[in-house]
Parts: sequence; C-alpha cells; structure tokens
Amino acid sequence: MIGFFDSGFGGLCILEAFLKECPGESVFYIADNSHCPYGDKSAEEIRKRSEELVDELVNIHHCRMVVVACNTATAAAIDFLREKYPAIPFVGLEPAIKPALLASKSGVVGVFATRGTFNGRLYRETKKRFANGVRVLATIADEWVELVEEGDISSPRAERLVREKVEPILKAGADHLVLGCTHFPHLRALIEKTAAGRAEVVDSSAAVARQARRLIS
Ligand code: DGL
Repeated sequence: MIGFFDSGFGGLCILEAFLKECPGESVFYIADNSHCPYGDKSAEEIRKRSEELVDELVNIHHCRMVVVACNTATAAAIDFLREKYPAIPFVGLEPAIKPALLASKSGVVGVFATRGTFNGRLYRETKKRFANGVRVLATIADEWVELVEEGDISSPRAERLVREKVEPILKAGADHLVLGCTHFPHLRALIEKTAAGRAEVVDSSAAVARQARRLIS
C-alpha cells in the first residue's frame, strides 16, 4: 500500500498522475478536510498534523511508502518525517520552479502557492540556485484552495478569482506560471484559458509520479 495525504482534495491530482505511472499499485489517500486549509497554519501545527496522518498511514494502513501530496506539508514537515520514520521512503512536493526558470525567455516567472510553501527551505534554496537573473513573482492564492474544496472549478466566480491573480502576473511579463500547490491543477483549465498564448502553465504532478515509481522499483 502506498499512502498519500493532503489538506484536502488537492493531492488527488498527484494520486491520479501516480496511478497513470503505476496502475497496479494499491493506494490509500487521506484528504484532511477537517484541518483544511494548511496555508494559514504555522509550520509547527502542520508538522504535528502530518505526523498524526503518517502514523495512521504507516501503523493502521500499513503503507510502505508515503507521498506527501501537499507542497505546504512538505515544506513544514518532510525533514522531520524522514528523521522520524527512517524505514519509510517519502516523496514530497515542491513547486516546479526549476524547469520554469530554466525555460523562461521573458525573464519573469509567476509562482502560485501558500505562504508556508514560500517560506520553506526547499523553495527558497531552489529559487536562489536557479533564478540566475530571472524575476520570480510569488503570489499567495488561498482563495483558489477554497474554490477547489468547494468543488467550484468552473463557475464565473472561479474564473474571476483566477483572473484576478493571474492577470497582474501576465501583465508583469511572466511567460511561465508555476502551480505550487496541489489544489491548483484542478483549476488548470481556467488558468490556461486566462493565460492562453501568453504563458505556459507548469505543475509537478508528472515529475512526482515518476519519482515515486523510481523509488518503488
Ligand atoms: N494542497 C496544499 C499544497 O499543495 C495546500 C492547500 C492548503 O492551504 O491547505 O500546498
């Protein structure tokens, strides 16, 4: 059994990508809706909650590997989890800024994520290492998490909330938009509609699924 968890429905896009890579695997997914969103919680709170969820995945559901299908939980807890469960391989999520920074021609990249992800070591280190003169415009988009949790991914309101965040980043010249929260690929159709012909939308699902497959084999 491979365990997955996220603050809610976001990580289902990671699960979907994983099942495309590894169709025969058994999976157990925890959507932690009662504690959603993680975006406004302290790193300490998220660490504690992640520990409880991993305890459940490993000790009750006997998972032999855990995918932290949440950028915010990865930022707050993955180092701690790896230390606490040395026998369990963990796969974490981080915004796909490296490929976006390397591919940007305009020299401007937009990233959408939670505050916790932007404050995390992984994000800060990758940005420092690969920015190389490229401007990174970081946008916190907690409203998008709410939309996805409500199952509202296509209404006029959802389109307006997407446009409000994306348009200023496009106007600033971004040619790549990085979805640094696992809830956001669920809004991909609206984000792509807004960015059509102006910027490419990038997320980490496929890369994470491939990494999980490599670890399993
Ligand atoms: N899906 C989570 C992530 O990837 C965060 C959403 C939340 O704020 O709970 O960061």
